[in-house]
Amino acid sequence: MHTLNVALAERSYPIYIGKGLLDHDLLRKHVRARQVLVVTNEAIAPLYLDRVLAGLQGLQVDSMLLPDGEKYKSLAVLEKIFDRLLEGRHARTTTLIALGGGVIGDMVGFAAACYQRGVDFIQVPTTLLAQVDSSVGGKTAVNHPRGKNMIGAFHQPKAVIIDTDVLETLPAREFSAGLAEVIKYGLIRDVEFYRWLTANIDALLGRDPSVLSEAILRSCQNKADVVAEDETEQGSRALLNLGHTFGHAIETATGYSAWLHGEAVATGMIMAAQLSADLGWLPQADVDALSALLARMGLPVKPPVGMTASQCRELMALDKKVHDGSLRLVLLRAIGQAVVTADYDDAVLMRMLERDCAAGE
Ligand code: NAD
Ligand code: GLY
Repeated sequence: MHTLNVALAERSYPIYIGKGLLDHDLLRKHVRARQVLVVTNEAIAPLYLDRVLAGLQGLQVDSMLLPDGEKYKSLAVLEKIFDRLLEGRHARTTTLIALGGGVIGDMVGFAAACYQRGVDFIQVPTTLLAQVDSSVGGKTAVNHPRGKNMIGAFHQPKAVIIDTDVLETLPAREFSAGLAEVIKYGLIRDVEFYRWLTANIDALLGRDPSVLSEAILRSCQNKADVVAEDETEQGSRALLNLGHTFGHAIETATGYSAWLHGEAVATGMIMAAQLSADLGWLPQADVDALSALLARMGLPVKPPVGMTASQCRELMALDKKVHDGSLRLVLLRAIGQAVVTADYDDAVLMRMLERDCAAGE
């Protein structure tokens, strides 16, 4: 087992990464008092809930199953978590446990941030995306019909427990979506990691345990470093949003159903890289190599059919990184060196969007 630390003074917490950790007594160690609510969904419960419950014997353990899917990441479903906590008379010392992917993690984290003005929670991420990204860093949220993740809070977990074995049951498409976020760390701040990923792509796609574990470890280390530097995204944490402004436009244009988040991020990262190349910052060969790498991972590399350049630009303007009317983007000065900037020519952006959207499959 590897242990990393997210260094946030009194809010610091460990990330445990290893095989078979669901059967370890780690969860119990991080439960503060005698009450626990485990929240998972209908798909994950039959696979892993019993093992989690087995590690919590002797406590008041309540559990609940939410419906599966991004469309249930809503205030209405969040209220059901509060109902369950109140039914079970959970006190301020209770601990919520999020067993699932990013949807469950974000929702349970937000419930923990709100219930009685803030209680403990532990992340037990079960998708690759959640293991390398969403479970670390304390961003919690639900969606609003007018925008994704628009209602939320920063609330750090007490621990993140990553059992790499659970990825064995993850569908291939979800696995690939998670790989997009892994690649992201290499692109924004870790060129060595990017080279390592490129060299180990076959083993990674084959879910080779040691290569996968190394990829998760290095991703979490990168994420922990960024979060420790800028917990509430006043500056450098925004780099983690590489590809997300384009990606959110794709997700919105496709109604949050046709594309997975990681798929939209993959195409978004290529669009960000292409714009960086069009601005003369990045060699075109780097963009082409990135595109080939993501395609090899089974990820989409062109915007969705039917999305126009002007629609994309309009949707991008809804991004949280718009400040005083100017849209800041995460772009690449080089592989491993991202910047957040509004210093680009909008005409170059529009030309790139027109070319890319016309090329959409
Ligand atoms: P998800 O939570 O919807 O999980 C994907 C699917 O995989 C679901 O159907 C789920 O039931 C299933 N699943 C989960 N674990 C499984 C397993 N081990 N075996 C078999 N099936 C399994 O999606 P996700 O990609 O994990 O998360 C996406 C969400 O994360 C989005 O809502 C996004 O906004 C959010 N997110 C948050 C952050 C953050 O910093 N908080 C970062 C990135 C993404
Ligand atoms: N996934 C973006 C962040 O955690 O900041």
